[in-house]
Amino acid sequence: MWLYLAAFVGLYYLLHWYRERQVVSHLQDKYVFITGCDSGFGNLLARQLDARGLRVLAACLTEKGAEQLRGQTSDRLETVTLDVTKMESIAAATQWVKEHVGDRGLWGLVNNAGILTPITLCEWLNTEDSMNMLKVNLIGVIQVTLSMLPLVRRARGRIVNVSSILGRVAFFVGGYCVSKYGVEAFSDILRREIQHFGVKISIVEPGYFRTGMTNMTQSLERMKQSWKEAPKHIKETYGQQYFDARDRSFVGVGFVNFL
Ligand SMILES: NC(=O)c1ccc[n+]([C@@H]2O[C@H](COP(=O)([O-])OP(=O)(O)OC[C@H]3O[C@@H](n4cnc5c(N)ncnc54)[C@H](OP(=O)(O)O)[C@@H]3O)[C@@H](O)[C@H]2O)c1
Repeated sequence: MWLYLAAFVGLYYLLHWYRERQVVSHLQDKYVFITGCDSGFGNLLARQLDARGLRVLAACLTEKGAEQLRGQTSDRLETVTLDVTKMESIAAATQWVKEHVGDRGLWGLVNNAGILTPITLCEWLNTEDSMNMLKVNLIGVIQVTLSMLPLVRRARGRIVNVSSILGRVAFFVGGYCVSKYGVEAFSDILRREIQHFGVKISIVEPGYFRTGMTNMTQSLERMKQSWKEAPKHIKETYGQQYFDARDRSFVGVGFVNFL
């Protein structure tokens, strides 16, 4: 019996070792489209894939971000401006990608663009901020994916949706969690629906990293602003003392210490 067990474990590690050794070939012929490349993860990924020799099609929210990225990368990398909340912007970016990839199709799509603002309680969050998070983090992901899907399908490619640990466990920033839970649901459903086309969908769930999104000075300012703008009855219900204690714990025990 021990012999069988040892053989099984040995086989498992052999297969694992073989799998880990596999590398994607012909990287220089493969196109990857990434959203939100002005800063943070998107920017880093664009530069890393470019350095690995892939053909990166980087979408930036601003022309300034695009210009900076082009200055740091090879001639292979090309940029387009994209606001994932605007349908016409998505349509134009899709057409641009189509012209670049031609019959090869799009080998990779990374839905990375996202916002987290402000870090506050559900009751203090105004409708506009709530809607913005949903528009960028969830509706943007859905619309970009559906728009690019025919191109990804042609290449039998893969889609990577950047979710968050807060898309798995909801314990902080209600509006943001709702949007990331939505990303997970959308990805899980679409994965089943299109797997027979040979398209894969993955979710990335980062924890806490130091990027523009997690800039604590800005986050604190926005939290204060959301408290300032909260309706009178909310302020009376929670009270200034509650806000001050929360403000202190946010700075002291909380997330500043992570940075
Ligand atoms: N940092 C973390 O700890 C963490 C943890 C979990 C998940 N994530 C997720 O990781 C992804 C990347 O975030 P990050 O940390 O790298 O933050 P980031 O540096 O703020 O990057 C977000 C990117 O999205 C862009 N963007 C914002 N609104 C957009 C819009 N309407 N259309 C297109 N692009 C837009 C931003 O452009 P501008 O720079 O021009 O505003 C920026 O380039 C997000 O989906 C985020 O939710 C981050």
